[in-house]
Amino acid sequence: MQNLTHTIRNFLRLGVLMLLLAAFAAPVAAQSVRPPGNAVNLDDGSQEGPSNALGDVSDTEIWDNFRGGKPADLLAPVREGQLMTTSGQIWREIRENYIRKYLGWAPLIVIGILALFYLIRGPMKISAGRSGKTIPRFTLSARVAHWFMAGVFIILGLTGLTILLGRVAIAPYLGLEANSVLTSASMQGHNLFGPIFIFALIWLFIKFVRGNFFQWVDIKWIFKLGGFFGGHVSSRQFNFGEKSWFWMVILVGIVISVTGVIMLFPGLVEDVRWLQLSTVLHAIGAVALISVLFGHIYVGTIGMEGSIDSMLKGEVDENWAKEHHDLWYEEVTGKSASEPAAKEETT
Ligand code: HEM
Repeated sequence: MQNLTHTIRNFLRLGVLMLLLAAFAAPVAAQSVRPPGNAVNLDDGSQEGPSNALGDVSDTEIWDNFRGGKPADLLAPVREGQLMTTSGQIWREIRENYIRKYLGWAPLIVIGILALFYLIRGPMKISAGRSGKTIPRFTLSARVAHWFMAGVFIILGLTGLTILLGRVAIAPYLGLEANSVLTSASMQGHNLFGPIFIFALIWLFIKFVRGNFFQWVDIKWIFKLGGFFGGHVSSRQFNFGEKSWFWMVILVGIVISVTGVIMLFPGLVEDVRWLQLSTVLHAIGAVALISVLFGHIYVGTIGMEGSIDSMLKGEVDENWAKEHHDLWYEEVTGKSASEPAAKEETT
């Protein structure tokens, strides 16, 4: 009997001890499983953050809510009080999986098409042959503006492509160290010549805008695809293709300039997503210009006989002018472009 009373008393003592332990342990245990809400001090009672950590809301929902509820794209507005956006992940994905992987192919595809075209069709000759007589086409200052832009653009194109594609196009072949040296040198050069591009763009615009406004005569050029279908097509100083190139250079050039300035001076924008968007637009715009530039260089050199004279000497052969810019020829000389063309005498 005495033993039984002793045992019951011991059980009671143990029970009291356990209750006391539980009373002390509970707050400590509660602190050690801190809900994520504590980590960000969301104590303003708002429902924006992960305030329910007790188990009836999933982690995914908590974090989705924390960063805006749905994957944000580069342009979605940030909600007030929102701490995270997913735009950084999306930006990285666009840059790594699309721009780095595919964009670099565009200029190569254009080069391939031009090479094929040259093999099939060959250079576009002056059909009446050179007359030996020339007429002025571009002033010295217009030509200097053109070649200044060409030089700056080519430097920016080469350095920009190295920065963008060095890791996939240089590192695997020349090694990481060579890529690192080339990329950092390119970065310096690109940052230096970037602002000069803006100056070159303004100068090019001033020198070439006259004569580059679209006119009715351009509609015929479009329908005949510049003479590929339906025979000869008339044009003034610049044809539809040249005008499109001019406006593409100016408009895409403005986009590249603005986004370039934002990247050079990131403090200009408050929202980091303008910076992310700038890198994407800058790369797409630049690669588009570089690709079309190959077409421009092709027509200006081996693709069309007599073209390069205008930019090198400032003068073109009369027969070239009659064939490609008949209305401009008539305007400048006051003569009819359909008069039989004289051929250069070769002795
Ligand atoms: C480096 C190679 C280049 C060559 C061989 C070249 C050649 C030429 C030639 C021959 C013309 C005169 C066409 C005519 O008389 O109708 C011309 C015009 C022009 N080029 Fe270039 N060019 C080059 C680079 C560039 C670059 C890099 C740009 C700009 C990014 C550019 C923009 C222009 C513009 C805006 C015109 C005037 C056409 C118009 O206003 O419609 N060129 N080029």
